[in-house]
Amino acid sequence: MKFSYPEGATPLDDISGLKPAWVKTQEDLNNVEAENISNAVSKYLLKSVNSPQQWFNIPFLQKIHYDMFHDVWEWAGKFRTTQTCPGMKPYQIYGALTHLCDDVTYWCQGGGNLTIVEQAAKIHHQLVYIHPYPNGNGRFSRLVSDRYLKAYKYSFPNWPVEDLNKDGQSRKQYISALKSADLGNYEPLVLYMMGLKR
Ligand SMILES: Nc1ncnc2c1ncn2[C@@H]1O[C@H](COP(=O)(O)OP(=O)(O)O)[C@@H](O)[C@H]1O
Ligand SMILES: [Mg+2]
Repeated sequence: MKFSYPEGATPLDDISGLKPAWVKTQEDLNNVEAENISNAVSKYLLKSVNSPQQWFNIPFLQKIHYDMFHDVWEWAGKFRTTQTCPGMKPYQIYGALTHLCDDVTYWCQGGGNLTIVEQAAKIHHQLVYIHPYPNGNGRFSRLVSDRYLKAYKYSFPNWPVEDLNKDGQSRKQYISALKSADLGNYEPLVLYMMGLKR
């Protein structure tokens, strides 16, 4: 089976965890993943969302990733054990996620001076930077930050979802904003998420 990837995607060189035997092409894979994810979207984004303090914790994040990918991949909801780029070392994943959950608790309690969109940008970037899973980190992190924004009744950013497997202009801007965030500058990502051009 031959898969194609846009810039910034984790190459899938190991398809041993692929569940449906009928998946033979990139298009098959995109379709079956999209269907699985749309069920997770109904569950996590279309209903009302409680304060992040009540759900932003490691078991719930695991459950979200599991629900997004468990029809397709054996490793859904399980942390990766091999190195990716981007991605922290596998043994650092749990600690880094714990740190992020602590930040979210602090923000929910009124700590710090970040706006809600800045908090969501930080969450989004940290989740892709940590890269907890073998794949699906981008889609997972976008859903989690959408859910975070929904908890505060903010609208969702225009993510480059239509460009998932293409290097469209929106995806280029998005990846470039993430690379700035890698260096500590969150402004392009915040502007991107607010739908504003730089
Ligand atoms: N330099 C980078 N820094 C941080 N995150 C990045 C960088 N490059 C790519 N990403 C993120 O990683 C995602 C790709 O990871 P992947 O696990 O393949 O997710 P998915 O399968 O959902 O696309 C991109 O969608 C983007 O969110
Ligand atoms: Mg991928």
